[in-house]
Amino acid sequence: MNTVLILGGTGVLGSAVSNWLQNNQVDYRIGSRHPVKTESYSMVNQSSASTWTHVDLVSGEGLAESLVGVDTVLHLASGPGKIGRESFESVLTRNILNAIPKSDVKHLIYCSIVGIDKIPYSYYRAKLDSEALIRSSQVRYTILRATQFHNLIDYFINKLMQFPIGFLPEKLLAQPIHVDAVAQKLYELVLAGNQNTILNLGGPQVLDFHTLAHSWMTYRHISKPVLPIPSLGALMSAIAKGYNTCPERAVGSKTWDDYLEEMYGKPSA
Ligand SMILES: NC(=O)c1ccc[n+]([C@@H]2O[C@H](COP(=O)([O-])OP(=O)(O)OC[C@H]3O[C@@H](n4cnc5c(N)ncnc54)[C@H](OP(=O)(O)O)[C@@H]3O)[C@@H](O)[C@H]2O)c1
Repeated sequence: MNTVLILGGTGVLGSAVSNWLQNNQVDYRIGSRHPVKTESYSMVNQSSASTWTHVDLVSGEGLAESLVGVDTVLHLASGPGKIGRESFESVLTRNILNAIPKSDVKHLIYCSIVGIDKIPYSYYRAKLDSEALIRSSQVRYTILRATQFHNLIDYFINKLMQFPIGFLPEKLLAQPIHVDAVAQKLYELVLAGNQNTILNLGGPQVLDFHTLAHSWMTYRHISKPVLPIPSLGALMSAIAKGYNTCPERAVGSKTWDDYLEEMYGKPSA
């Protein structure tokens, strides 16, 4: 029996993974800063209240207790910003790495992001630092770098389209992936055991933002003028070069259009 602790099990990915483990009869529990499961989590998360365990990865409260009897830890807890001089992400990761050697945990799986080593962005630097902490530790691990989930691209396009005129940076690329495809891969990694390596995973298509936004407007029945704006700066230039994509690791899962239809129904004719 492989018992799994999902740290960040209430998040977008964590909820998808918990549903995946539940449907495949894998024994798991969810670590959350919230002491008990509330109604809002029941909407996305099939797990029962008995799988809930209270963990704060910044203070370390509940962490040692949450690891008792656990074989595999899925580290999907995350956040932006800093605590003192250290990134929030590194603090969470370091606290997990310090706790694991005092437990029976055999495998740590960390979800990271494709291209973080080439894209200059503070959150990505924090993810890279976290990966380095894991790789230099004695803990057996697998790191899965995924491309952006559909809901995140949806959020970005929503922001770019919020005014009467849409503003779209030119030439930006993305390879959106359905969160269930990432959850499935994490489930497979739980079964496979530690690989001590970094794996990439991307959605089925690499698309430019113009195409993504055009489909988004069609499925949302929105029609408005769109103004292309130049992609300036090192961050946008890296994304225009496709450093956030991995076409050689594309999975044949749901496409961007499949996601839009699932979310918003049939497109306008
Ligand atoms: N979103 C994407 O497009 C994308 C793409 C590739 C990789 N990833 C990576 O996938 C992972 C999950 O992303 P997501 O979008 O699912 O994140 P999310 O929805 O923002 O969820 C973040 C989770 O972190 C937990 N958390 C934050 N601070 C915590 C603390 N101090 N102690 C314990 N738990 C804490 C939260 O749990 P509680 O609030 O319940 O405590 C929440 O479940 C992240 O590492 C992210 O970098 C995301």
